[in-house]
Amino acid sequence: MGPAVLFFLVLVAASLLPSTAQPWRYPHYPNNTTNLSTVWTNNGKFSFYNSSAVRPILQGLSPEQDPELPGFAFVAGFICPLTPTCDMSLFAIFIVHVYAGILERFYPVQVVWCANRASPVGENATLELTTDGNLVLRDADGSHVWSSNTSGQSVAGMLITKIGNLVLFDHKNATVWQSFDHPTDTLVLGQSLQEGTRLIAST
Ligand SMILES: *[C@@H]1O[C@H](CO)[C@@H](O)[C@H](O)[C@H]1NC(C)=O
Ligand SMILES: *[C@@H]1O[C@H](CO)[C@@H](O)[C@H](O)[C@H]1NC(C)=O
Ligand SMILES: *[C@@H]1O[C@H](CO)[C@@H](O)[C@H](O)[C@H]1NC(C)=O
Ligand SMILES: *[C@@H]1O[C@H](CO)[C@@H](O)[C@H](O)[C@H]1NC(C)=O
Ligand SMILES: *[C@@H]1O[C@H](CO)[C@@H](O)[C@H](O)[C@H]1NC(C)=O
Ligand SMILES: *[C@@H]1O[C@H](CO)[C@@H](O)[C@H](O)[C@H]1NC(C)=O
Ligand SMILES: *[C@@H]1O[C@H](CO)[C@@H](O)[C@H](O)[C@H]1NC(C)=O
Repeated sequence: MGPAVLFFLVLVAASLLPSTAQPWRYPHYPNNTTNLSTVWTNNGKFSFYNSSAVRPILQGLSPEQDPELPGFAFVAGFICPLTPTCDMSLFAIFIVHVYAGILERFYPVQVVWCANRASPVGENATLELTTDGNLVLRDADGSHVWSSNTSGQSVAGMLITKIGNLVLFDHKNATVWQSFDHPTDTLVLGQSLQEGTRLIAST
């Protein structure tokens, strides 16, 4: 893990104290499922606790199931330290605070998985779920950074489960690829990011 990314993780792990300010209202509740032939661009400027900016792509149901209660939800999307440009972004799965299904910005986010830890991407990088079922991360200049290598495996769509598993599924709803099978970039679930950061930093 490069020092730049460590720095980023430390930034994300910044102060844990909640604020009394109003929750940040995402334009609409993000989907938990998506079809093929979809492209998302890393153009989000939505900041969390002045320490990271996110561009949500899919948001899982809150495990609490009760939309009226505060709780947590898993989001798959781009995340970067809050700087004028998102030039060190990860495509990641992270935990956010939600209230009534709405992301609350005055809490830090906790990264649990990421695809490109060793090669952060910049603003305008893209994630594409291609027509042939490959999930591809490219930097803004089009250079290939990461892919799920699932072309031609009958992928029909992508979802995120309420426990934070990003899944590429086929027409029979069978799992073709899942982030849970690729734990090399995973911080242990339930572990705080500070612990995760120290763990990684000490290896
Ligand atoms: C959810 O999916 C619908 C249908 O594809 C799309 O119009 C909408 O923009 C999506 N919402 C978000 C937050 O991505
Ligand atoms: C995916 O495709 C199905 C069938 O074509 C459609 O009903 C559904 O709304 C689409 N979902 C999204 C998120 O675009
Ligand atoms: C975020 O930054 C703004 C402007 O610098 C400041 O007014 C605000 O108090 C900060 N919020 C938090 C939660 O640190
Ligand atoms: C990202 O794209 C937008 C719109 O095309 C552009 O205004 C912006 O300058 C781009 N950002 C970078 C860092 O190139
Ligand atoms: C996809 O394949 C490439 C080349 O074989 C490999 O380096 C990469 O780790 C694979 N990606 C995943 C997510 O398995
Ligand atoms: C996606 O959200 C809908 C409610 O909007 C829910 O019925 C469905 O079970 C969710 N799918 C997953 C995989 O969590
Ligand atoms: C796949 O799952 C969706 C949502 O749970 C369901 O509506 C659909 O009927 C399932 N399709 C198959 C082939 O099992």
